Amino acid sequence: MSSRLFQHDVLVIGSGAAGLSVALRLPRHLRIALVCKGDLNEGSTYWAQGGMAAVLDATDSVDAHVEDTLIAGAGLCQREAVEFTVRNSRRCVEWLVEQGVNFDASAEEPGHFHLAMEGGHSHRRIIHAADHTGQTISEVLTRRVLEADNIEVFSQRVAVDLVVREGRCEGAYLLDRERDCVDLYQARKVVLATGGASKAYLYTSNPDGASGDGIAMAWRAGCRVANLEFNQFHPTCLYHPKAKSFLITEAIRGEGGLLRLPDGTRFMPRFDQRAELAPRDVVARAIDHEMKRLGLDCVYLDISHKPREFLEEHFPTISARCRELGIDIAAEPIPVVPAAHYTCGGVVVDTAGRSDVAGLYVIGETSCTGLHGANRMASNSLLECIVYAESAAKDIAATIEATQAPRSAPDWDESQVTDSDEDVVISHNWDELRRFMWDYVGIVRTNKRLARAEHRIQLLQREIAEYYSNYKVSNDLLELRNLAMVAELMIRCAQQRRESRGLHYTLDYPETLAEAADTVLEPDRQG
Ligand code: FAD
Ligand code: SIN
Repeated sequence: MSSRLFQHDVLVIGSGAAGLSVALRLPRHLRIALVCKGDLNEGSTYWAQGGMAAVLDATDSVDAHVEDTLIAGAGLCQREAVEFTVRNSRRCVEWLVEQGVNFDASAEEPGHFHLAMEGGHSHRRIIHAADHTGQTISEVLTRRVLEADNIEVFSQRVAVDLVVREGRCEGAYLLDRERDCVDLYQARKVVLATGGASKAYLYTSNPDGASGDGIAMAWRAGCRVANLEFNQFHPTCLYHPKAKSFLITEAIRGEGGLLRLPDGTRFMPRFDQRAELAPRDVVARAIDHEMKRLGLDCVYLDISHKPREFLEEHFPTISARCRELGIDIAAEPIPVVPAAHYTCGGVVVDTAGRSDVAGLYVIGETSCTGLHGANRMASNSLLECIVYAESAAKDIAATIEATQAPRSAPDWDESQVTDSDEDVVISHNWDELRRFMWDYVGIVRTNKRLARAEHRIQLLQREIAEYYSNYKVSNDLLELRNLAMVAELMIRCAQQRRESRGLHYTLDYPETLAEAADTVLEPDRQG
């Protein structure tokens, strides 16, 4: 098939909360291409359960939300980014409501939202739609995007790499999975909103596409990345042979859920005075510690003391999924384990989502805005997606007229490659990478484990590079190439941090240094 050329004003790569919102926030006279590698609702956004943090309660304040975020971030958040995000939280909720998102109302206070509690928050401030908040937001924003006649949607398109000409991003090469060819998409501005990289780990709460594509593409295009050692492990993913990647929301602990060992005893009070409502890094590490100490396959999350009607009303998705698997959450505890959940680091951006490369914006989980520091506070990430989508859209609207049209760029060249004859190489390398990342770059690290991971990733990178230069690209190959790239960056960041802080815990440096510093990696711009 021959390559095609598509031209728009703005190219948005990704259709999660960040990508959908930026497309909707841009002025209607701009022609926008919105692309995603599967169907529109396949990102992490769709699976978000707990909700979105926002200052909405009369007893809450911007200062309290800022303070909680700074504490969870273990000294590494950038105050400017935190204040910027929290200050905009109420307006972003209002925008979502204007789009048609129906958040749950309070039964006690008519005219107010029901606000849930989660770890690290000093107030009830999580606005939600039962335990399917992400699905509700995704479906509403998707509907709006499909109604907008200035937004053209291209699904089943995988971005391979960005087009950068003389230091300016002017588009991307995209694999059309249906036609099996690589097309050139040109635009005056490009927004990367491709989500995180938690698929680097064997066990994860994330859907399959979370392979760090945007982080890898931005790095190859010349952007700095930062703080990639901080991968958040969610403490409570369902442990069941038939349940792949199913999360048990932190809001269950917010409503009084207790973590127990198999004999029914609680263990969190031994680890932290906030017990089950300590920040995630603390809870995940405590579970990991108890599982290793006692040789357990899982621990248990018990909410069975709450009335059945309450659980059905607030946690319908979890009640139903557990019931399908033979677990009655109103009568018995839920088996849970920690799993990789969120990429706190990413591509370095400012408060308008601008990266180091002119014309390239990076928003949502792909970015590193400084909001999360060394540990993201629960439900701050959907908020970050919506806030930065707005600020990036404003910046694009203000600067696009003065931005020159893209210059001509070469077509994708496949003359030197053939169809792959050994797909098993890709699946084997996927498995190997995710397993050693889990074992060596997981919840508890050591210098020796990181050195082993470094060695393994170098071998893998060489094999993947050879494969990439000889065979036609496919989605699996592109994801593996990106995941290996991001895994390498995660390992490098972890090796540079010679302390334990937030989500990065190493037995070789258990102390936290007095001064907090970001781990920033600079790409080789000559390469
Ligand atoms: P995503 O929603 O992940 O979307 C990424 C998009 O990029 C997809 O459309 C994908 O197809 C596209 N894409 C990726 N690579 C390419 C490529 N190469 N080419 C083309 N397209 C590409 N956060 C909260 O604040 N509250 C919660 O309650 C909450 N619960 C969560 C529950 C689960 C199970 C998970 C997994 C996460 C949860 N999070 C929660 C985190 C939050 O959902 C994510 O951080 C956020 O939704 C990320 O949004 P995003 O728009 O950045 O990316
Ligand atoms: C959850 O519902 O526990 C996930 C919340 C989040 O990741 O912010």
